[in-house]
Amino acid sequence: MDRDYWERVGERYEREIFASSLSDTTGVIRRRLDELANPKAVAADFGCGVGHYLPLLARRFRQVHGIDFAVSLLEQARARTRDFDNVTIHRANLASGRARLSFPKVGVAVCANVLISNDESVRRGILRTIRKQMVRGGQLLLLVPSLEAEVYTSQMLAEWNRRQGHRNNETHASGFRSVPDMVQGLVDIEGVLTKHYLREELEVLLANSGFEAASFDKVEYRWDTELDAPPRWITRSPRPWDWLVVAKARG
Ligand SMILES: C[S@@+](CC[C@H](N)C(=O)[O-])C[C@H]1O[C@@H](n2cnc3c(N)ncnc32)[C@H](O)[C@@H]1O
Repeated sequence: MDRDYWERVGERYEREIFASSLSDTTGVIRRRLDELANPKAVAADFGCGVGHYLPLLARRFRQVHGIDFAVSLLEQARARTRDFDNVTIHRANLASGRARLSFPKVGVAVCANVLISNDESVRRGILRTIRKQMVRGGQLLLLVPSLEAEVYTSQMLAEWNRRQGHRNNETHASGFRSVPDMVQGLVDIEGVLTKHYLREELEVLLANSGFEAASFDKVEYRWDTELDAPPRWITRSPRPWDWLVVAKARG
């Protein structure tokens, strides 16, 4: 999942890449953004991609910066924010210790489904860059895939198979994803190892990275974002989710 990977996604992004901000069934992302909103403050979206979060931020903050390393995605972000005069788009590799960002430190940072590389040093590099670019006491809104949700979804899938008469944990229904490295939280999503997080792991990671987690929410998605044509009994169960954390930048 390096820059070439994201550059190649390019025009296919909207069809292939899940948009958390558009699929949040309970609206918790907007509620948290409303709490952070400040018409005098500056916000940045680190790893903004095609810019789904940028209009949400532009309406809540004085100035907004969107940063990503994939030119093909930044072009789409620019088009999406054409009508906002308070959004600036920047190209930078956030994982590089030498990332030089040409705007002052921000009070609010968003980072949505960006810390998902299978390479731990890349994830740590990005988080370090974000912390460096935030004022002390600033707030980070971090969204990451949940490892608990992944295991739970597999359990529901196994139960679906059982009800269809398949033995044990065989997975004949669509949607099964293997977790080749449970300890590292790496899930195989269509051939791409994608980092997923436990809630407690996030607490520790943030504490070790200069943040203090203040709230944890589930951003819940419809079952058909995970499983093809899920049966009614599954859709009545708790839904799959990502973790949404608000964390304060410590001194
Ligand atoms: C799954 S997309 C999420 C996009 C956006 N945050 C959203 O939620 O709609 C991940 C994004 O992170 C960007 N990204 C990943 N690693 C990066 C890095 N080292 N520097 C800058 N951008 C990066 C990718 O280019 C991609 O746009």
